[in-house]
Amino acid sequence: MSILQSIMETAAQFLPDKKPDVMKAEQETHVGHARTRVDGPAKVRGEARFTAEFQIENLAHAVLVHGTIAKGKISKLETEEARRAPGVLAVITHENVPKMKAPPSVDLSNMGKGFALSNLPIMQSAEMHWDGEPVAVVVAETLEQAEHAAHLVRAEYKVESADVSFEGMKPKAVMPHDVLGEPPEITIGDVEKGMAEGDVRIEHVYRTPRYNHNAIEPHATIASWNEDGSVEVFDATQSVNMTAHTIAWVFGLKRDQVQVVAPFVGGGFGGKVGLWNNIALCIAAAKVVNRPVKLALSREGVYRVIGGRTIAEQHVGLAARKDGKLTALMHTGMTATVLSGRYAEQCTFPPRHLYASPTMYIGQKVVYLDTVANTWMRAPGESIGTFALESAMDELAHELRMDPIELRKINEPEKDPTKNHPFSSRKLVEAYRRGAEKFGWSARKAEPRSQRDGKWLVGQGVATAYYPFMRFPAKARLRICIDGTAVVQIPAAEMGMGTATVQIQHAADRLGLHAHQVSFQYGDSRLPDTPVMAGGSNQTATIFAAVHAAVDEAIGELLKLANKRADSPLKGANAEEVEARDGGLFRAKAPEQGETYAGILQKTGVPFVEVETSSAMPLETMKYSMASYGAQFCQVRVHEETGEVRVSRWLGSFDCGTIVNPKTATSQLRGGIIMGIGMALSEETLFDERRGRIMNPSLSEYHVPVNLDVPHIEIIYNDIPDEHAPSGARGIGEIGITGVAASIANAVFNATGKRVRDLPITLDKLM
Ligand code: MOS
Repeated sequence: MSILQSIMETAAQFLPDKKPDVMKAEQETHVGHARTRVDGPAKVRGEARFTAEFQIENLAHAVLVHGTIAKGKISKLETEEARRAPGVLAVITHENVPKMKAPPSVDLSNMGKGFALSNLPIMQSAEMHWDGEPVAVVVAETLEQAEHAAHLVRAEYKVESADVSFEGMKPKAVMPHDVLGEPPEITIGDVEKGMAEGDVRIEHVYRTPRYNHNAIEPHATIASWNEDGSVEVFDATQSVNMTAHTIAWVFGLKRDQVQVVAPFVGGGFGGKVGLWNNIALCIAAAKVVNRPVKLALSREGVYRVIGGRTIAEQHVGLAARKDGKLTALMHTGMTATVLSGRYAEQCTFPPRHLYASPTMYIGQKVVYLDTVANTWMRAPGESIGTFALESAMDELAHELRMDPIELRKINEPEKDPTKNHPFSSRKLVEAYRRGAEKFGWSARKAEPRSQRDGKWLVGQGVATAYYPFMRFPAKARLRICIDGTAVVQIPAAEMGMGTATVQIQHAADRLGLHAHQVSFQYGDSRLPDTPVMAGGSNQTATIFAAVHAAVDEAIGELLKLANKRADSPLKGANAEEVEARDGGLFRAKAPEQGETYAGILQKTGVPFVEVETSSAMPLETMKYSMASYGAQFCQVRVHEETGEVRVSRWLGSFDCGTIVNPKTATSQLRGGIIMGIGMALSEETLFDERRGRIMNPSLSEYHVPVNLDVPHIEIIYNDIPDEHAPSGARGIGEIGITGVAASIANAVFNATGKRVRDLPITLDKLM
């Protein structure tokens, strides 16, 4: 069975007649209501298969051999022993790998053409560019045979001196051309003067380490070439169509010769966007052995070939008058990247949008290192940026002897401080008010070290969460069928967020159907080719806008059909005069006059109406400052003798526009907060600054939070629609992690009187 056939079987459960009955027929409207995930039953039953779990006939297994130098040349590759090992089909090196074009770089104005976070050619020469870069791919009949043979490959190198030390390269830091399309530097007024004018000022350096991606599902690919020269790829990706474009580019194929499918992805967080070496090498291996090949990265493999979050050093200076009004805000950041990727992580974005200050200096620099390309990782920029800025705000509040929430309220801007645009909807102060009330903030003692429970020092902290709104123009296909059901098709990615569920809710409401009458097809690049991805917290809004456009067009088509009949109660009606409800279209001013979709189609003998429609450019983001906001409240307990930090309470109060599905949204935000707890307290990529090698590429040595590290997390919402966002909803995927590390650092200070400005907050820093 081909990959596409097997995948179709998995996806078929979302067709109307096979969809699990988790959306009840009696549930009439959907947006704003908690709904169980449509993919839930398949996942708990183990029926939802992830890439590495797929078995297809004649499948061979590939394993990567990673290089062990940061820079230089392979001088000798000993592969004979591996080639002769049992079950081995091929050992692929730069000497016999198929020709591949270097992947295109990220182009923010044209993401749809595909991209990689590094434009280095993939295993095309003896040149080595980072420690961990693949030097060989071993393909064998079984995974065990491939793993065994991979250990038999020996490489020798001519080592060249590499730039791997962030500390060492700091003097060579440069200002990047841009930071995600924005200027790296912003100056408002005279910030030196502003600093001098403050009655109180603080200036500190905040450091965050490298972090690595640890999605529960490691990256995996299955590739299968067809006789006609086309290739089918099953890949754990956050964007099937962008990946298809990138593969087509790299292998010199036409876009329609590449099909990528991914019905379920076990988390991505930014690490599964763009083409990484493993994907291209799996496809190349399938070509060499002329069989379908599976390449599932080991956990270590993810650390070696997939980028993570950059190391960063940020400098924040704040000055304020006695009444708390800021007179100056300085925020500079230095991050690491690679020359082949040039992704300057946007750590200085939060200060551009959060506080009113008459003077500001915001600037970013980068150092270029010989490492794997850094990449997006949940709220890239904002997560580390809010750690620095929101720690600094807490430090300023302490110096002012002012409540930190009050300080933020006093400096709440009326319009965007650097863009000067009005806010589309910003109810951050309300989120603070509701959060403080629910958390019981007024009971907190401002004086550090004033609450204890035996040997445990107790403290509370708060910080602002912030993530910008993004939307991309996209195309959806909508089919309304003669039986009154509807199908929405768009090549979206479902990596566990609840995408299919909320899209069914939304489309059902727009069409006036029951949710069980709507199916949502995604995760397949044969759907309309449109640049949609699960990234930048954009996907929900992006698809909503596409569905709005498609529903409007479909209504027009249905009215044309109705108009063909003299007896139609909709005769002569135009789109503005009708509303979609009760399974059809009805005149807004004469509610009893209308017809069901099934009725219109049956009476005209047309089996279905199908439209493919694009949404408009996201002009709203050019006219308004649009973002999701929140207030992260926490309580920590710090052991007086050991310095152990336990997070004992959490409340996130969010302002993200309409909450489409409180059940899945709460789950998303909790996930972000848990990832933030890891960032604050335990996660850290240990990196050998001399050799450029990651030293802890495993879950036993890179500590992600486990159940016992996480308290009950309460989430509340303003749930105030943003009239400039499609159906009122802004993004929720990434904001959860923002503000978390600062909230914890602030709580640790409140508990102990010790300010830690260097993540993670491990016990040695509190002793
Ligand atoms: Mo997110 S870091 O844009 O997947």
